[in-house]
Amino acid sequence: MEYVSTGVSGLDALLRNKGFPAGFNIVVMGSPGSGKTTLGLQFLYHGCLKGENGVYVTLDERPASVFRNVSNLGIDLEPFVKEGRLAIVDASPIRTIPGEIKLGGISIGKKDFSLAALIAAVGNHVKNIGAKRLVIDSLTSFFIQYPRVAERRAAFLELLEGITPLRCTTLLLTELRYSGADRPYQFEEYLADGVIILRKYLKNGTVASSIQIEKMRGVDHDVEPHPYKFVIGGLEVYPTEKVI
Ligand SMILES: Nc1ncnc2c1ncn2[C@@H]1O[C@H](COP(=O)(O)OP(=O)(O)OP(=O)(O)O)[C@@H](O)[C@H]1O
Ligand SMILES: [Mg+2]
Repeated sequence: MEYVSTGVSGLDALLRNKGFPAGFNIVVMGSPGSGKTTLGLQFLYHGCLKGENGVYVTLDERPASVFRNVSNLGIDLEPFVKEGRLAIVDASPIRTIPGEIKLGGISIGKKDFSLAALIAAVGNHVKNIGAKRLVIDSLTSFFIQYPRVAERRAAFLELLEGITPLRCTTLLLTELRYSGADRPYQFEEYLADGVIILRKYLKNGTVASSIQIEKMRGVDHDVEPHPYKFVIGGLEVYPTEKVI
């Protein structure tokens, strides 16, 4: 098995210093503002620095606003976009009605937005720049068009089947719908190769954040939650500290 370094200080340590298994589809679930987008872009930024190109699919926010926010953390993606090492698929108009999405030069109205078109656009970008890393931000916006859970599950499986042949290591960002200790599982968790959970919790009356690798198929990994913080460079995980 090959591995891909995460780019997040302290996170590789939870993966026995190896990183993510290459080619895995990994769901990153988190509460609002927990750092899903930051983690995803940090992963892509690190890849670009190492010569592993990436594709970022944004469905939640306009690329300009996403880039501006993470540049405050010292993650400057613009040069990589200009050099053709990072490609952006802007599907963010899906959030608005009627909305029009331009994918690979083709405009698609929201109602006609097709999963096949999204998969084709991602595939074209991955092939054009030889991407090894892919981030989809977020599944929540992607699921809007499928009101029923059974449809969502089917659409998610179709998305996974569409992107798996691209052989990228992929982070699929999504909301954590319930955060309690005895929360019900989300269907995404069963279908992905790996699951990472970002949570907020109260510690001595202040809000802190924890990261937990819930699953990573076929590999040994830490299963406990550990604290993390936002620092210059993105998220920083403290693998030897526990969450109390
Ligand atoms: N410079 C900074 N210093 C400290 N914290 C920051 C900084 N920049 C961003 N943050 C924190 O990061 C959060 C946003 O991070 P990010 O956009 O990665 O989260 P997200 O999980 O993707 O959010 P959403 O649910 O909106 O998609 C902010 O709410 C803030 O708490
Ligand atoms: Mg986000």
